[in-house]
Amino acid sequence: MEGLGNNRMESQLVFIVSACLLVSATANGEYLRPQPRKTLNLPWNSVPSSHPQQVHVSLAGDKHMRITWITYDKSAPSIVEYGTEPGKYNFIVGGESISYTYLFYSSGQIHHTVIGPLEYDTVYFYRCGGRGPEFQLKTPPAQFPVTFAVVGDLGQTGWTKTTLDHIDKCKCDVHLLPGDLSYADFMQHLWDTFGELVQPLASARPWMVTEGNHEEEMIPLLKDGFQSYNARWKMPFEESGSSSNLYYSFDVAGVHVIMLGSFADYDAYSDQYSWLKDDLSNVDRKRTPWLVVLFHVPWYNSNHAHQGEGDEMMAAMEPVLYAAGVDLVLAGHVHAYERTTRVYNGISDPCGAVHITVGDGGNREGLAHKYKNPPPEWSVFREASFGHGELRIVNSTHAFWSWHRNDDDESVRSDEVWITSLIDSGCLVKKNDELRKILLEQ
Ligand SMILES: [Fe+2]
Repeated sequence: MEGLGNNRMESQLVFIVSACLLVSATANGEYLRPQPRKTLNLPWNSVPSSHPQQVHVSLAGDKHMRITWITYDKSAPSIVEYGTEPGKYNFIVGGESISYTYLFYSSGQIHHTVIGPLEYDTVYFYRCGGRGPEFQLKTPPAQFPVTFAVVGDLGQTGWTKTTLDHIDKCKCDVHLLPGDLSYADFMQHLWDTFGELVQPLASARPWMVTEGNHEEEMIPLLKDGFQSYNARWKMPFEESGSSSNLYYSFDVAGVHVIMLGSFADYDAYSDQYSWLKDDLSNVDRKRTPWLVVLFHVPWYNSNHAHQGEGDEMMAAMEPVLYAAGVDLVLAGHVHAYERTTRVYNGISDPCGAVHITVGDGGNREGLAHKYKNPPPEWSVFREASFGHGELRIVNSTHAFWSWHRNDDDESVRSDEVWITSLIDSGCLVKKNDELRKILLEQ
């Protein structure tokens, strides 16, 4: 019950902070977002304090996965028992745990344990902390085909639930989330309800996330940004040579995925930019023919919402991504869907990347309906509806992208396209010198 009292005090303080933020947001408010659904009223979970809650898994280096869960018993062990048969655990691994405080809120104990080496494309049964229910996960395949579910700006409303139900049907190998997860927005217990909401999917397949503006939760002089996000959604940044959880990369089944941070410094003198160059210099397109990048704030956006917000990052980083021959860029932030041609420097370019904005997971802020007209020549498909994307990479050259609209709670495939990778296009050979030059710049 103590937690509920703290929630009330937390709510009051947060109300003041939110009111200030709302005033500034309304002053800039340029679009109306009708018909959002209500935030879900998730019952307070009453499992025993040593039992795991909010279980989610993520990739953590080749053949390894990180299991993350929370207990309210601070002394609960960070062990994971696992095996390939139900109830039969041949392996046991220890991990680490942390907790944090935020104003009047104290988090539970957040456990992070890396398991492996694991077989590819295999179902594992596991138990966290030696207590509570058994979970199961499936590791991604070693090679193509591989499927990704992609969704940004999820939140925890009725629409979020619909989107998650549709994603569940995909049984995709890996879930990619380009930011704005819980919409907790300083209300820390909403991180907990979000963790519970996504557990059925996130405990079964790796969830790979990068940060959005709603993760920041910075309070000047009191709180640095991204404290809760970094504590709860630890991604394989150390495994990929990054010094920050806000940007990292990983390989899965012939795809090199780079998660950039729209809210970390990105100019040519920044740690993120240096890390990106290092990361790209280690990409071997024979081993990972597909190169996919995610970040939160889109660079190619013909919606009036958040217009131009990605321009600075685009000016700093698009040349290096272009020289590296990135195939596909996935973003969120704008609560709508948009797909471009291959594009670079503001115009269609057969050697540029396809950019897709899929910031329509279902959050409480609703949709961004107003588009610039006429559409730019690079904009192929745009629509303001909730939904999610699926990317099925079939082989080293071909992938099938589809966007699934939540049409009156039915999943309707509204946009689909075959995407051909740059591997056999001649673009990579043409760009080789350009890339070398950028990578060698100090
Ligand atoms: Fe956002």
